[in-house]
Amino acid sequence: MNPSAMLSLLLLLLLAGRQAAAGETTLNSMCNFLGGDYVNYDYCVSTLSSDPVSATADGHTLALIAVNLTAANATAVRSLADSLSVSASSDSFVRASLQNCSSLYAASSPDLLRSFAAAAARNYTAATTALSSVLRVPAGCDEAFAAAKEGAAVASPIRTENNAFSDLATLAKAVNNYLASD
Ligand SMILES: *[C@@H]1O[C@H](CO)[C@@H](O)[C@H](O)[C@H]1NC(C)=O
Ligand SMILES: *[C@@H]1O[C@H](CO)[C@@H](O)[C@H](O)[C@H]1NC(C)=O
Ligand SMILES: *[C@@H]1O[C@H](CO)[C@@H](O)[C@H](O)[C@H]1NC(C)=O
Ligand SMILES: *[C@@H]1O[C@H](CO)[C@@H](O)[C@H](O)[C@H]1NC(C)=O
Repeated sequence: MNPSAMLSLLLLLLLAGRQAAAGETTLNSMCNFLGGDYVNYDYCVSTLSSDPVSATADGHTLALIAVNLTAANATAVRSLADSLSVSASSDSFVRASLQNCSSLYAASSPDLLRSFAAAAARNYTAATTALSSVLRVPAGCDEAFAAAKEGAAVASPIRTENNAFSDLATLAKAVNNYLASD
């Protein structure tokens, strides 16, 4: 190979390497940066990776993915609260609390839409603010059970899902907040 061809090949390899690195580092570097601040690195990577687009996505797209996952989960948790409130439990306090959780999740819909629209418009500050409101939902749902009738708090049958939603909304907020301060 002559030196000039060698140089071209080298340049080509260099460029290809840069492109691959840029694609994978947005997810990795963002999750690395967020790591420790309520969100852990592995959780951040594995959660966002549930959308295959995330592997090569830029920060903007990662913010949309995070909000999308949160919105989808709100719907899922709400359905679960609804179905449990009409089935199994014979305890009227548990049923009422589940109904409160359902109402809280339903009421988060405008904030989730607002945060998606804001993130889509690259207004990450507004998206972060809307997600702060969304985070009152899992807290309020827990309170519905903690503020039990006199005596011991009643265990929430959707504790796991409510906590998972809280983690998801926290991640979405952290991603938008990261972009807001960019
Ligand atoms: C978010 O969800 C909406 C509606 O479900 C979809 O049209 C859009 O492509 C999604 N965006 C991302 C980045 O996943
Ligand atoms: C979303 O909600 C469902 C149902 O409540 C839950 O089982 C699941 O773990 C949640 N998904 C994520 C990604 O947190
Ligand atoms: C972002 O959205 C907020 C709330 O809607 C608005 O007040 C603000 O002007 C927007 N910022 C930019 C830069 O568009
Ligand atoms: C449910 O919400 C209503 C008002 O929204 C409140 O009065 C009631 O105490 C709540 N129930 C529980 C179990 O938290």
